[in-house]
Amino acid sequence: MANDTVTDEPPETAFTRRDALKLTGLGIGSVAALGVGVGGVRAITNGAFSAGSGDPYELWHDWASLSGVERVVAAGVLACNPHNTQPWRIRAAADTLDVHSDPSRRMPLNDASGREHFAGLGCAVENMVIAAGAAGLTTKVTLFPDGLASDHVARIVLREGGSGQDRDLAAAIPYRHTNRGPYKSTPVDLAGFTEQSSRIDGARVLWITDGAARERLGRLYVEATEAITADTAQSAEAFTWFRSSRGSIDQHRDGLTLDGQGLGGLTLFAAKLLPAQSRKDGDAYWVKATREVHTATAAAYGVIAVDDVTDRTAQVNGGRLLARMHLTATALGLGLHHMNQITERIDRDTAAGNPDVFSARWAALLSRPASTGLLSFRIGHPERTAGLSPRRSLDDVVTG
Ligand SMILES: Cc1cc2nc3c(=O)[nH]c(=O)nc-3n(C[C@H](O)[C@H](O)[C@H](O)COP(=O)(O)O)c2cc1C
Repeated sequence: MANDTVTDEPPETAFTRRDALKLTGLGIGSVAALGVGVGGVRAITNGAFSAGSGDPYELWHDWASLSGVERVVAAGVLACNPHNTQPWRIRAAADTLDVHSDPSRRMPLNDASGREHFAGLGCAVENMVIAAGAAGLTTKVTLFPDGLASDHVARIVLREGGSGQDRDLAAAIPYRHTNRGPYKSTPVDLAGFTEQSSRIDGARVLWITDGAARERLGRLYVEATEAITADTAQSAEAFTWFRSSRGSIDQHRDGLTLDGQGLGGLTLFAAKLLPAQSRKDGDAYWVKATREVHTATAAAYGVIAVDDVTDRTAQVNGGRLLARMHLTATALGLGLHHMNQITERIDRDTAAGNPDVFSARWAALLSRPASTGLLSFRIGHPERTAGLSPRRSLDDVVTG
């Protein structure tokens, strides 16, 4: 994956300009001084003044004004998805939407079992179901209509005559973003999730709220993050999905960006002034953020549990429930940050034939077999508004 300004890229959640962190300790005047001359040019080319605007972001702004099948399909494209790979191809007719996996967008080292890829497709399916339901349509979803080995992941048949369900969740679609910033210490009232947590057959949510368990899980996340960054091949694969300049965002319209890393406004601005940095420095920042921000400020963790994480249908259904959880969090004003380092390492170790160092502790935290813990995330009251992530245009992903 080409990237114009760097030769090497950081893993998901990583932020590539270590020097910007140092700038957080500087005064506004110092940073402003950097903004003139060469820094000012970099600020423009790296999108310091155009975050969240322009073609890669237009779907977020236009979604509410779309109608009919286009609005339903666009809801799918705005779904959360792993590393913002946007792993879908969608065939749209008046009353039928066929969702296909795009195998060229899989990440075999970071997602060896494909659980995230197929969960991401499930997220898109569910966003479409929610948008259709709120628009007064009924939906009939058939997973893998051509068999489990097929790329044809789902068929959604739309009919008139729905009761307009899921309006609150649909209204949250253009406001839902992954929030990787710090969360406040205020506890989260999980009652708001109850109605949604049993909406998808075969998938459920386990909550980890107890302080001691959160600490243990936090340590496991940090250890898994360290293991990913120590694995050059896995880290390098993730790095190919980081878009560090505005030019590469405009070119690819996918992947992770500085705007999505949950940085404070001044730090983000400073990061855009500075040259992109190496994969290793980005990795070091990611480990630090996982320890000092992500796990340190998680008010609660959620785990999407299924009967068997290797089952394709369970992966898609787990993603469908995840999409509902994320939209519910948005509707409740909560931040949600997907965090899958532990399961990425479990799958990587299994595929590579390495000793399994995470499953036993993952299972102990879940109080059930590791083979049932599909995906995980943290939630909390966010301190910062999350940035928008780019999306490819409907023309790029939808065929008639
Ligand atoms: C199945 C799945 C796994 C994900 N895993 C992670 C993760 O481990 N770390 C992370 O920071 N974000 C993760 N994400 C969030 C995506 O990176 C994010 O959805 C994507 O970049 C698009 O951004 P948005 O959610 O703000 O629209 C995951 C999302 C999905 C659906």
